[in-house]
Amino acid sequence: MYPLTLGLAIASAELSDEVRAGMLDLPVRVVVEHTEIAEIAPFLERLDRIRPDVVLLEIRQLGDALDEVLRQVKSAAPDSMIVALHTTASPETILAAVRAGAHEYLYPPFGPLLRQALERKSAELSLTRGGTRKGGKTLAFLSAKGGCGATTVACHIAVELGRHDQKVLLADLDLETGLVAFLMKTRTPYTVLDALNNLHRLDLSYWKGLVSNGIPGLEILPASSSLACRQPEKVEQFRHVLGFVRTHYDWTVLDLGRGLSYVAFHVLEEIDMTCLVTTLDVPSLHQAKQIVQTLVERGYAKGRLRLVLNRVTRQMDITSAELEKMLGLEVQAMLPNDYDGLYEAYAEGQLLAPEHPVRKRLGQMARKLAGIPEEKPKGGFSLFR
Ligand SMILES: Nc1ncnc2c1ncn2[C@@H]1O[C@H](COP(=O)(O)OP(=O)(O)OP(=O)(O)O)[C@@H](O)[C@H]1O
Ligand SMILES: [Mg+2]
Repeated sequence: MYPLTLGLAIASAELSDEVRAGMLDLPVRVVVEHTEIAEIAPFLERLDRIRPDVVLLEIRQLGDALDEVLRQVKSAAPDSMIVALHTTASPETILAAVRAGAHEYLYPPFGPLLRQALERKSAELSLTRGGTRKGGKTLAFLSAKGGCGATTVACHIAVELGRHDQKVLLADLDLETGLVAFLMKTRTPYTVLDALNNLHRLDLSYWKGLVSNGIPGLEILPASSSLACRQPEKVEQFRHVLGFVRTHYDWTVLDLGRGLSYVAFHVLEEIDMTCLVTTLDVPSLHQAKQIVQTLVERGYAKGRLRLVLNRVTRQMDITSAELEKMLGLEVQAMLPNDYDGLYEAYAEGQLLAPEHPVRKRLGQMARKLAGIPEEKPKGGFSLFR
């Protein structure tokens, strides 16, 4: 099921319990919550900013204001599905709610009706957002456990894609330890927070002033460690920024940091493919398995997940086929281990040189992703060349 965001304005405990029970185990996230139905203005203001996919509104206390409140809800969140909730059902109130613009009317016990309504909205969105999204691809890298190499892979893949005539944005969404700006020697003083704060004037010329460039085909937006990025409203706005950038780049490459952060969760819907970067030690593989499980439970299709095995040595205790089976994911790439090589490159303020074995592997991975034919290998095949 395609994940949904919800806005709730519910005062009664009975309806609140019914709603929670009705959406148990569904990939839904409450992004606006309000309990003072008599004081509806703050709810409307947040709806206007956050625009959840579904609004669940208790109409019991609205009386004559029903028409007006529903009109305001529709104008604040025009694309949302509106579900009117009441503790009872009389033909008059149902008719009044539907006439005023509610898409559904529910009263306890909901039974499967809430779930079915959410599934309908989800199916509609998966067609409009999932299947026919316009613009380039969004590719994310996630470190199974700290230090598995997600940032290293994201930076090199972005540069490699840029070398092949692709227009690429590398955006750092690792709000804990965002290192992209440091590794890539970016010059812009701006960060993702500036993009979030200026959504209202996000056009191409404003955007060009935010990002750093200098590497062919590649523009970079560094992370911000500001706590402001973690406010629920801001986190929702990440999705709007990603929706905007996908129309201007062939590839948006995201560093999501380690594990499933709050931000990572909120941007999943905008990501076409997530590469889970893991090393082969037991704790990392354990974490990788947990992440896959959580993502799948939240409705993220397994087909959009890939494994990147990093720091692979000649003696692997487990084969890539066994790992694919264990995690249920396709291995996108296996990268050899060369700590000294990376240490030296980073110490000199550079990425790996094009002829470095790890870099060559990353080049192959980028070509595979972009569907660019392999360069003819000179001589035999080896992971450690
Ligand atoms: N293939 C590799 N061989 C050897 N060392 C590597 C390899 N890839 C990454 N490293 C090293 O591992 C360390 C962690 O890499 P990196 O910062 O890319 O990981 P990360 O998953 O982004 O970490 P964090 O959880 O801190 O965000 C760095 O010192 C890097 O040089
Ligand atoms: Mg990192």
